[in-house]
Amino acid sequence: MTQLDTNLDDATQVMQSNMQLIGRDEINDMEAIFSLVGAVDEKGSHAVVDNCPALFTWDYEKGFRPALDKLYEKAKRSQWNGSTDLDWSTPVDQEKLAHQAYVDGSRGPLAAASLDGTALASWGEKEWVTLNMEYQNWMLSQFMHGEQGALLCTAKIVETVPWIDAKYYAATQVMDEARHVEVFSRYLDSKLSGHYQMNGHLGLLLDDIVADSRWDMTYLGMQIMVEGLALAAFGFMHATTQEPLLKQLLRYVMADEARHVAFGVLSLQELYGQLSHAEIRERQEFAFEAALRMRDRMQGQEVWDRLGVSRHDAAQVTLLDPDRVVFQAALFSKIVPNCKKLGLLDAGDGWLRTKFTEMGVIAFEDWEDTTLDADANAEGSPVGRE
Ligand SMILES: [Fe+2]
Ligand SMILES: [Fe+2]
Repeated sequence: MTQLDTNLDDATQVMQSNMQLIGRDEINDMEAIFSLVGAVDEKGSHAVVDNCPALFTWDYEKGFRPALDKLYEKAKRSQWNGSTDLDWSTPVDQEKLAHQAYVDGSRGPLAAASLDGTALASWGEKEWVTLNMEYQNWMLSQFMHGEQGALLCTAKIVETVPWIDAKYYAATQVMDEARHVEVFSRYLDSKLSGHYQMNGHLGLLLDDIVADSRWDMTYLGMQIMVEGLALAAFGFMHATTQEPLLKQLLRYVMADEARHVAFGVLSLQELYGQLSHAEIRERQEFAFEAALRMRDRMQGQEVWDRLGVSRHDAAQVTLLDPDRVVFQAALFSKIVPNCKKLGLLDAGDGWLRTKFTEMGVIAFEDWEDTTLDADANAEGSPVGRE
C-alpha cells in the first residue's frame, strides 16, 4: 500500500522539456544560472505548505524490514553530542587560513580560471583573501540551510512513510539533522565572519521537495539527491581543510550522512519495484531537476552578488575554470551510483542516463553505492574515530 499519485499512465505520459523542468533550454546557460540569487527573507522565516497526509500504521512488527531495522539499531548506537564531543575552545583564525590558501598558490575557488577581460583580472591579494573568506562563509551557510531542509524533510518522512521500521529510523535522523544544524550554526557564529541567505537554486529545490505530497519524493529529493551531494561535498572539505575543529565536525557529520543516504536507497528499492513506467519516468525527471539545481547551487551566486562582481564576469570565470568542472562532476560521485542501484538510470529508454551523460557525470555510475559505505555500516559512535 502506498500513498502514491497513480493518476498517470503510460499512454498519457508527456515528456517534459528542459524549459518545463528547470526553466531554461540549455543546461549550461551560465548567465541564466547566475541570474538566480537567493533573496534575504525580511520576515526571518519562510513557509511552505507540505501537502502531507500523516499516516498511522497499525502494523508494529519491528524488524519486518531487516535492513532498515539494522540501520535503526546502528543509528541509536552512533549518537554524539555536538556540545561536548567537539572541542569548541579550538582557536580558529579564518583570515590567516584564507591568506595561507592564497599564499599556497591558490587564489581560492577559482585557482585555475582565466580572468582575461573580467573585473577579477585586476584583483590583488586583499580581494582574493576576502573572496576565500566569503566563499567559506557562504559554503558553511548553505550546509546549515541544507541541514535544516533535511531536518524538516525527515520529520515529514516520520509522518508519511507507511512502514514502522522506516518511521523508527527516520526519527533517529531527525535528531541527527538537528545536531547538524546546531554544529554548523555554532561554527558559523563562533569561528567565521558572517552568514549568507539560502542560495536561490537550493531554495527552489527544497521548496519542491517539501511541497510534494508523495512520501517517496521526499526520500528521492532529500535522501538521495541533496544528501548524496552533501556527503561528497563534506568529503572534499574534510580532505582539504587544515582546521582541526572543522575537520572533526565534518567527520562526525559524514558518519551520520552515510547512514541517511543508505536509508534512502534501502527504502526506495522496495517501492520502485512496484511502480509503473510512467511513475518511474516522473521520478527520473525529478532526479534530473534536483541534480541540476544541486549543481547550480554550488556556484556561489550570493558571494559574487555581495562582492559586486557582475553576473557576466562571474559566469565567465566559473565556466573557464577547469578545476571547477572536475570538482562539480565529482560532487555526483554518490548520486549517480545510487540512482543506478535504484534502477532510475536505465528505466524506460534510459532517459536519466542520457541526461547524466549531458551533465558529464555518468562516469561515476559504477562507483560504490552508499549502502556499502563504510560509515553507514560502522558500529557505534564516531567519537574518537578518525
Ligand atoms: Fe545532515
Ligand atoms: Fe542527513
